[in-house]
Amino acid sequence: MTGELSPIDKAKFVAAKRAADMVEDGMRVGLGTGSTAAWLVRCLGEMVRNEGLKIRGVPTSTRTAELAREVGIHVISLDEAKWLDLTIDGADEFDTDLNLIKGGGGALLQEKIVATASDQMVVIADVGKEVETLGSFPLPVEVIPFGWQTTQALIEETLVSMDVLGRSATLRMNGDRPFITDEGNHILDLHLNRIGNPRQLALVLNQMPGVVENGLFIDICDTVVIGFGDGKVEIRDINEGTVETDRLDFVESDNLFTDLAD
Ligand code: 5RP
Repeated sequence: MTGELSPIDKAKFVAAKRAADMVEDGMRVGLGTGSTAAWLVRCLGEMVRNEGLKIRGVPTSTRTAELAREVGIHVISLDEAKWLDLTIDGADEFDTDLNLIKGGGGALLQEKIVATASDQMVVIADVGKEVETLGSFPLPVEVIPFGWQTTQALIEETLVSMDVLGRSATLRMNGDRPFITDEGNHILDLHLNRIGNPRQLALVLNQMPGVVENGLFIDICDTVVIGFGDGKVEIRDINEGTVETDRLDFVESDNLFTDLAD
């Protein structure tokens, strides 16, 4: 079955599988959103069912909540958990400081709230997500539907004085309608190509009326687990640099590949 996985899916899977080993009995765990995070949820579900792992999971989207329940994870709300031991989530880009662009799946708001309410945030990503400078991936910004075009114009105008290469913003669509987030908002994707000062941009964006949150995760991620298509896994820690390289075996988890729906 694993033979049918593309190298990129194998990379996502091994990153998720290695990160699942960081989860311990009794933990309250933030569960990210996206295809890599879905692998994690499946791995954790398997550990709950087969190894008796006892965790409570706080999902970052309705999609993740559905999958987590489906695989047997005890799902609670963030307010029930109050604080989390660990959040594991995917990313669209990460740089050498482990700053991130997130929100490709449209869940950045809940993802940022959950990650910020955690002792530790671990990102799981295939090696293609690593960049020297953030910004090739369009930066998602969640905006209130009311007056979104005015907010878009304000963002584009403000970008003129920012250290970025591109300045256009596009409304994310779902077919022929605007994409709606779990919180009922829209997403503007900012095509910046290169973000020279992500910290400044994150602060400036969040000061604009109409902007709910942006997809720059600055100083939130502690560790990135990087997966490669050949099964190699590298763990990079914010304080200690690369702390582990390993290779994972696919065979033992073959039953996870029987249903690849994300
Ligand atoms: C969702 C996210 C995802 O973590 C990000 O888009 C990565 O997704 P994938 O694992 O499918 O590549 O931020 O809002």
